[in-house]
Amino acid sequence: MTVEKYFVLQGGDRMPRIGFGTWQASDEVLEKSVSDALSAGYRHFDTARAYENEAALGRALTRWIGGEQTRRKELFVVTKLPPGGNRPDLVPEYFNNSLKDLGLDYLDMYIMHTPFAFEHIPGDLHPKNPDGSMRVDLSTDLIAVWKAILKLKESGRVRHVGVSNVNEEQLRRLCAVEKPACLQIEVHVLCQQKSMIGIASELGIPIVAYSPLGSKALADVLAAKTGREYPDLLSLPIVQRIADAHSRTAAQVLLRYTLQRGVGAIPKSTNPARIQQNISLWNFELTESELKELSTVDRGENGRICDFSLSIYL
Ligand SMILES: NC(=O)c1ccc[n+]([C@@H]2O[C@H](COP(=O)([O-])OP(=O)(O)OC[C@H]3O[C@@H](n4cnc5c(N)ncnc54)[C@H](OP(=O)(O)O)[C@@H]3O)[C@@H](O)[C@H]2O)c1
Repeated sequence: MTVEKYFVLQGGDRMPRIGFGTWQASDEVLEKSVSDALSAGYRHFDTARAYENEAALGRALTRWIGGEQTRRKELFVVTKLPPGGNRPDLVPEYFNNSLKDLGLDYLDMYIMHTPFAFEHIPGDLHPKNPDGSMRVDLSTDLIAVWKAILKLKESGRVRHVGVSNVNEEQLRRLCAVEKPACLQIEVHVLCQQKSMIGIASELGIPIVAYSPLGSKALADVLAAKTGREYPDLLSLPIVQRIADAHSRTAAQVLLRYTLQRGVGAIPKSTNPARIQQNISLWNFELTESELKELSTVDRGENGRICDFSLSIYL
C-alpha cells in the first residue's frame, strides 16, 4: 500500500502528512528539537498560541530559513487560535500576535483550537476557577468565529484555515459555511475515531492526528491525579509483536498504522533519535491482517487521553 507523503490542499499547496508536534517542551529544548527535526526532514510544524512557545519555534525556523524565500516555501507552519480568542472581534488580534511571535510574514494554516471558548482575560490563556476548572464561556458563537477565521484569508497572510476538537455535528455546521482545510483531532490505536474519519473522508477533509503516540506525559499526569488507567500505547503487546516482525519500533508501527488509515500525524519528541525514527516511515508496510488486528484494539471514546473536561486535574 503506497502512502502519500503529502495532503494536496486547495490551490495545490502540499501539507506533509508527518509533522512535528511542539506541545510540552521548554523553549530551550524546543529550539534544539526543531533544529533536529529540520535536519531529519520535517517541514510541517504544529504549534498553538496556547502552548506559549510560538517565539521559540519561530526563532528556530527563522534561523533555518536564513532569509531565503525558497526555504520558507518548503515549510508548512501551523498555529491555533486559543479558546480565549473564540470571539469574532478578537480573531484578528490573536492571529497578528501569533504571526508576530513566530516572526513570519504568513502562516500556512491557522486552526480554531477548540469549538468552546474560555473567558477572555488579557494575558491569561488558561483562566481557571478557584477549584482548578477552566473558566469556560458558554456564549461562543462557533459559526461567527469560523467566519472571522475565514476572513483572515483575505489578507493573504494565511493560506489555509482549519479546525480542531470539533464533533461531527459541529463539523457539518462549519462545512455549511465553508469546508475546513484540515481537521486536527486525537487519533491513535486506542482512540481510532472511525466514525469521524469516515465523515471527514466523505467531506474530503484531511485529518491530522494529534497525540498519535498516546501523549505519555499527559497520560501519566492524568493517571496519577484521577486514578484512571492509561495504557502505554508503545508497550501494547500487539504493537510490540508487529514492530518485531518488521524490525521497527513500536512508535513507527503506531505512526505507520495512522498513515495507512489515510490520516496524517504530528508526533512530538525532544530526543534526536526518536525525532528521526518518527519520520522514517516510508519503506515498510503493515499487512492487511496486521491492520485488521490493530483495528480491534480501539476503545472508542474510552481510549481518549486529551479529554478537556479533565482540565481540573492539570
Ligand atoms: N489540537 C489539539 O488540541 C492538540 C492536543 C494535543 C496535542 N496536539 C499537537 O499534537 C502533538 C503531538 O501530541 P502529544 O505531544 O500530545 O503526544 P505524542 O506525540 O503522542 O507523544 C509524545 C510523547 O511520546 C514520546 N515519544 C515521541 N517519540 C517517541 C518514540 N519514537 N518512542 C518512544 N517515545 C516517543 C515523547 O517523549 P520524548 O520527547 O522524550 O521523545 C513524548 O513523551 C503535540 O505536540 C501538539 O503539537 C494538538
